[in-house]
Parts: sequence; C-alpha cells; structure tokens
Amino acid sequence: MKRFENKVVLVTGGSRNTGLEIVDLFLREGARVFFCGTSEASVAKGETELARRGHTGFHGIVCDVGKTSDVTAMMDAIECEAGRLDAVVTNAANLGQGEPAAPEVDEAAFLDVLNVNLGGTLRVVQEAARRFFLRQELNPATGQRGAVVCIGSNTAHHVQRRHVSYCTSKGGLESLVKCLALDLGSRGVRVNLLEPGYIWTERWNDLPEAVRRKRRANTLTGREATGGDVAAAAAFLLSDEARAFQGSILKMDSGATVALYPPYAEDNVPLPEGWCCGDDASSSLSEARDDGGVVVTSTTGRER
Ligand SMILES: NC(=O)c1ccc[n+]([C@@H]2O[C@H](COP(=O)([O-])OP(=O)(O)OC[C@H]3O[C@@H](n4cnc5c(N)ncnc54)[C@H](OP(=O)(O)O)[C@@H]3O)[C@@H](O)[C@H]2O)c1
Repeated sequence: MKRFENKVVLVTGGSRNTGLEIVDLFLREGARVFFCGTSEASVAKGETELARRGHTGFHGIVCDVGKTSDVTAMMDAIECEAGRLDAVVTNAANLGQGEPAAPEVDEAAFLDVLNVNLGGTLRVVQEAARRFFLRQELNPATGQRGAVVCIGSNTAHHVQRRHVSYCTSKGGLESLVKCLALDLGSRGVRVNLLEPGYIWTERWNDLPEAVRRKRRANTLTGREATGGDVAAAAAFLLSDEARAFQGSILKMDSGATVALYPPYAEDNVPLPEGWCCGDDASSSLSEARDDGGVVVTSTTGRER
C-alpha cells in the first residue's frame, strides 16, 4: 500500500519547479492531488507536464492565495470534487524578485510579499482546518485528522541582501507555524515547517556555470537540493510516521548555514577539487541571483 493511497492532498504553487515535484511525488504515493497556480496558463502548463510524466488524478485550480475569495473558491472546488482533504503543502510564495535594498523598498511591494507568503498560508490552513480537517474522522494510526507542511526558507535565520520582504515573510512563517500548531494540535491537526536552502529550479538553467559552482560551494555537500528532495521531506512530515512532529522547524539546506562563513570565505580552508571560487571568485563577478537580484563580489570573492 502506498503511503497516501485514498488521501486527498492540496499543494499550493504546484504549477512549476518545487511545487510541481511535490505534486508529482504525492501522485506517485497514491494521493489524489489538487494544486494551484496564479493563472490559467501556468496551471495548464503544470497539468501538461504531469500528464507527460504519465500521471492522472491531479486537478489544477487557478487561485491567488493572496485573495480570500480565491482561496474560498479553491476549497469549494475541492469539496465539490473530492469531499475531503487530508493534507496540505503551502508552497506558493512571492520570492520578492528584483527587490532593492531595504531603505528603498516600496511599502506596497513589501506588504504584497507578506500577504502572499504569510497571509496566504494562514488563509489556506484556516480554510482547510475549518472546512475539512476539524470535521473529519480521526485517523486510527495517528489519532489525528489532518496535517500541514509549510515551505519556508533558511533565510528566516540568515538573511540575504535586497530581500527584506521575502526574508521577513519567511521569518514570520516560523511564528505562524508555531501558533497554528499550538491552536490546532489539541484538535488533531499537525502543522510543521520545512526550511530549504538552495533548490534547483529551471531558473538555474539561465545561471552562468561560475555562479552555480559558487552556490554549491556555499553548501557543505557541494550540491543544492532538488524539488524531489523537498518533496520527499514534505511527504515524510505529512505521513503517519511523522505523527510526533508538531510545530517543528526542519532545516534542509545542505549545511549551508551551519558554518559562520561559507567555505570560500575561509582563508585557511583548501577547497575540494572543482568546487570553484579560486580564480573566478577573484574577479569582480556580478552574480545573478536565483530570484533576480544581483550580488557584486569583491576581489576576494566576498560579498560587499
Ligand atoms: N528556489 C529556492 O532556491 C528556494 C529556497 C528556499 C526556499 N524556497 C521556497 O520553496 C518554495 C518554492 O520555491 P520555488 O523556487 O519552486 O518557487 P517558484 O519557482 O517561484 O514557483 C512558485 C509557485 O508558487 C505559485 N505562486 C506564486 N505566487 C502565488 C500566489 N499568490 N498564489 C498562488 N500561487 C502562487 C507559482 O504559480 P505561477 O506558476 O502561476 O506563477 C508557482 O507555482 C517557496 O515557498 C520558496 O520560498 C525556494
């Protein structure tokens, strides 16, 4: 028996990249999966890709989690189609791409990121709990009736330049998840937070190889996570085996934030063969970040 056979799962932001891989894994694990994206085109693209991989049993819905009416309509559709909901992954996020430094940030843009990343998470979990989880029977294996995994980021702890909105939202997510776990835990619902670091997305295809190698050198494993890695961790946290996880914050960033400085910034640490940042970090390299920002490195390869 597959882990999510006969279960109904919702993945927000499942139309591409990490979210699509999460949808893919739950389908392989036997679930019926609803996912959302922000437009007809992006949802159709996600559905086409899932069908190309041989999947059935998925339902794409257009929903901006920043809007209460959209979230309500999405839950209406799930209720109408499936009549129940067992698990939710809140993955949709506004990455705050191209944001300027904090003093120049536009207030409306800042609030928009918080509205999607924090407000959207609250809306989706509230509606899932009120409309489905709290009305459903207890699972005899766990004594619980619903589970949520929120996708956060290691930037909740170690912030990035020109990312005040995004980092603030992911920091706030830690408190939001704890509050949800506290208020819903005694009613049989688990809520946990997964905090990835670098995740390979299709945006990496547009990065210069030197930038990819530099990012990998910022980890302790020499590689970024894949969407599949994130999906595997989310599936564990939503499975019956994780019934003792409640209000937990699980960092999965390939060790990127264990050390005070990244390896390339240590004067006395020889880098493994092929890990980068010797000669190409000594140039005045402008690094296009995954989220569209730009980091200018100094001649020592450190950010300035
Ligand atoms: N990529 C990384 O390196 C990284 C690192 C740490 C944490 N994370 C976290 O991992 C998650 C996925 O990241 P990603 O890079 O895969 O994201 P992504 O490529 O930007 O995709 C975002 C997904 O969320 C959807 N979305 C965006 N705004 C939405 C809204 N208002 N309502 C509903 N859906 C919305 C998008 O739909 P459309 O297709 O319609 O735009 C898309 O499906 C995010 O929570 C992110 O913060 C990512």
